Amino acid sequence: MVVALNHALQPELSAEDVARQRFVSGLRGFVLSDLAGDLRRAYDARVAPRFQGVHGRLPADGDEVHQALRTDPTFKAYSSLRVTAQKMVWDSVTPVVARQRAALETAAVAGADRLKLDSTVKVPRSVSAIDVHFMPGSYSGEGAAEEMAPGAIYDQGFAVFSMGLMGDNFNDIGRSMARYISRKFPDFHPQRILDLGCTIGHNTLPWKEAYPDAAVTGIDVAAGCLRYGAARAASQGVAVQFTQMNAEQLDLPDHSVDLVFSSMFLHELSLKSIARVFAEIRRVLRPGGLMLHMELPPNTQMGAFEGFYLDWDCYYNVEPFYKAFRDQEPRELCRKAGFAPQHYLQFVVPSICSYGESAVDAAVAAEEREVNKETTGRLSHGGIEWFGFGAWQDAAQ
Ligand SMILES: C[S@@+](CC[C@H](N)C(=O)[O-])C[C@H]1O[C@@H](n2cnc3c(N)ncnc32)[C@H](O)[C@@H]1O
Repeated sequence: MVVALNHALQPELSAEDVARQRFVSGLRGFVLSDLAGDLRRAYDARVAPRFQGVHGRLPADGDEVHQALRTDPTFKAYSSLRVTAQKMVWDSVTPVVARQRAALETAAVAGADRLKLDSTVKVPRSVSAIDVHFMPGSYSGEGAAEEMAPGAIYDQGFAVFSMGLMGDNFNDIGRSMARYISRKFPDFHPQRILDLGCTIGHNTLPWKEAYPDAAVTGIDVAAGCLRYGAARAASQGVAVQFTQMNAEQLDLPDHSVDLVFSSMFLHELSLKSIARVFAEIRRVLRPGGLMLHMELPPNTQMGAFEGFYLDWDCYYNVEPFYKAFRDQEPRELCRKAGFAPQHYLQFVVPSICSYGESAVDAAVAAEEREVNKETTGRLSHGGIEWFGFGAWQDAAQ
């Protein structure tokens, strides 16, 4: 299912555009549900027993699962079709955005007062040198850095990619996380909220809705995404600021932010960059403030097959840092950055889009649930849960 964007930047789609996008979305659904099921069955029935025959034991980690699967025809069919579907996502939206450019330039005016670009911010090679998840031109775009096309391509691509599972305007992660935090910690009233690597702000906006009195800023290195994000937020009437900034060098005073959030950001950074980002977060957080990351669940908390299933993107979907990040223990990342071990926080929250707001409220009230190997962080029609981790800054600094 393709979601029609529910804001004024929704382009006019021809019948042909709609048919193409629906086909691609359906193909992704077929790969991620039906073929993924076939892959699991082939692994259990054929691949794992074959490995066991040779080694006298089952594959112990994702690397061994990958080695065992590589030559299997079901894995080849799954991977080949999934890569094809991923490329088709972008192919199905880039011509639409090309036709939409003039309208986007007009829309940009509405977002101008929410936008602060800084031409001295250098786009890291981890963004500019590769087409991250095959997105043409990556987040920073192929044309002039400040054009809105990369943001529009991302937004419309997400409509096809997400298969209707990420909510209205793809804010499901932000909504689920913000609802969980605001109900779990009712005495926490952040006044200044920062979203790192916000792209077009789809998961930034829900923080303003959860904490209407807070000043909420999304930062990113990609000017075109920010420009689009600001116009998109303006069209939805949400007062969020978009600022071009590198999360490794935050242009913010010490102890000036109450909540630093990121969503699906860390897995696109090298481990060295993550360490620099965490050091910056620790510097800018106020005493008693919260660092919170929504991320893919770590390999240490999953089975070997399921861990590899998520790491597939690292090998086949232009996500070079994915596995190295997922091999880390989040608690350790926080400790190494100087956060006190007793202030570590980790939880799994049901997606509002999959299960409704009442499920998030029930998770708030219940014992902390563990990572579900099959559903946490995995986009499929069976229902999704999001993994969150982070740490509180010491109350006294
Ligand atoms: C996977 S996207 C994040 C998606 C979004 N936060 C969400 O919730 O879906 C990663 C984003 O991080 C940005 N990025 C990468 N390195 C960065 C850095 N060092 N500082 C700020 N943004 C960065 C990229 O431009 C991209 O927009």
